[in-house]
Amino acid sequence: MKNKWVLVTGGAGFIGSEFSRLLVKRGYNVIVVDKLTYAGDLARLEIILSHYSKKFIFYKVDICHYKMMESIFKKYNPPIVVHFAAQTHVDSSIISPKPFLKTNVLGTAILLDLARRYSIRKFIHISTDEVYGEIWKGKFFEDSPLNPASPYAVSKASCDILIKSYIRTYQFPAVIVRPSNTYGPWQHPEKFIPFSIYKVLNNKKISLYGRGTNVREWLYVSDCALAIKSVMEKGRVSKIYNVGSGVTKSNIEVAKVILKLLGKSQDFIEFVDDRPGHDLRYCLESSQIKNLGWLPKVSFSDGIKNTVSWYKNNYKWLEKKARYLEVYWKESSLK
Ligand SMILES: NC(=O)c1ccc[n+]([C@@H]2O[C@H](COP(=O)([O-])OP(=O)(O)OC[C@H]3O[C@@H](n4cnc5c(N)ncnc54)[C@H](O)[C@@H]3O)[C@@H](O)[C@H]2O)c1
Repeated sequence: MKNKWVLVTGGAGFIGSEFSRLLVKRGYNVIVVDKLTYAGDLARLEIILSHYSKKFIFYKVDICHYKMMESIFKKYNPPIVVHFAAQTHVDSSIISPKPFLKTNVLGTAILLDLARRYSIRKFIHISTDEVYGEIWKGKFFEDSPLNPASPYAVSKASCDILIKSYIRTYQFPAVIVRPSNTYGPWQHPEKFIPFSIYKVLNNKKISLYGRGTNVREWLYVSDCALAIKSVMEKGRVSKIYNVGSGVTKSNIEVAKVILKLLGKSQDFIEFVDDRPGHDLRYCLESSQIKNLGWLPKVSFSDGIKNTVSWYKNNYKWLEKKARYLEVYWKESSLK
């Protein structure tokens, strides 16, 4: 590829940073645009900044800022955009949906407009399995109806529908990727696995919504990044790709594995009131992405072991993020 610049939005986040690290190591030049919200952190890109700085440009920009975003498109005319930037925490979307609609829907609309005007070759939108809603038995296919439950999932489904309209109306070269629940190092402790590890490391109980029976399909972050890279290089425009590991586990099963790895008894579990509108189970049919040659490489037992030991070794980072969260939740509950 002549112009190897790839524009990655949300590249200072959990999955976007894993993806950016992967791309620069594989010879791509990466421009990251990230607002650095509480969820973004340049520390995740430290390895790129110190070892691959010539292949990397960072802009602290809000994707909702049309003029700033346009100046980046004008300057680099990137052939590929991979769009991760989003508000991503379901519980926060229930407390306050507006920022989710702004960044996730309006921000995506701005990117689509610019990508179309600057004749992008491929626009890869990172959606989520949550757009399908829950499935008690069986799996969701890429053409299953959308039935999102939370304001977060609705905001993501809205982007998918908008993108489909661009594909149909303008023959816009977009691809939608729908990964399942992703976990691994560097994930913000607002999410279930790192928060559970944080609590146990502080001798506190893991809190489970309801009876802990909600089931998620757990995908290790490096496998998620590899799947997105396959879609970027080989995925057909106008298609949707589900990305699931095939490993489904209830929250209580995950909690028990974490407790075992940290040498605690199962008494370190408490049950709390269920989240409103909580989807019971997600599960994806992922044969389309496998047809591109992708297969998950990291088993759940290896992935969770790596994750627990990463958080133990990077406890300071974990604690800093978790402390911020406690303040945020306190302030939100006062609003
Ligand atoms: N983590 C998961 O389990 C999962 C699963 C499926 C899909 N996804 C999707 O993958 C993408 C990345 O998820 P993640 O877990 O890495 O999220 P994250 O919350 O860790 O990162 C989001 C990043 O977007 C940035 N951002 C937020 N608002 C912005 C704005 N207005 N302008 C520019 N940057 C902004 C943040 O600063 C942060 O760096 C999201 O689109 C999410 O919906 C995540």
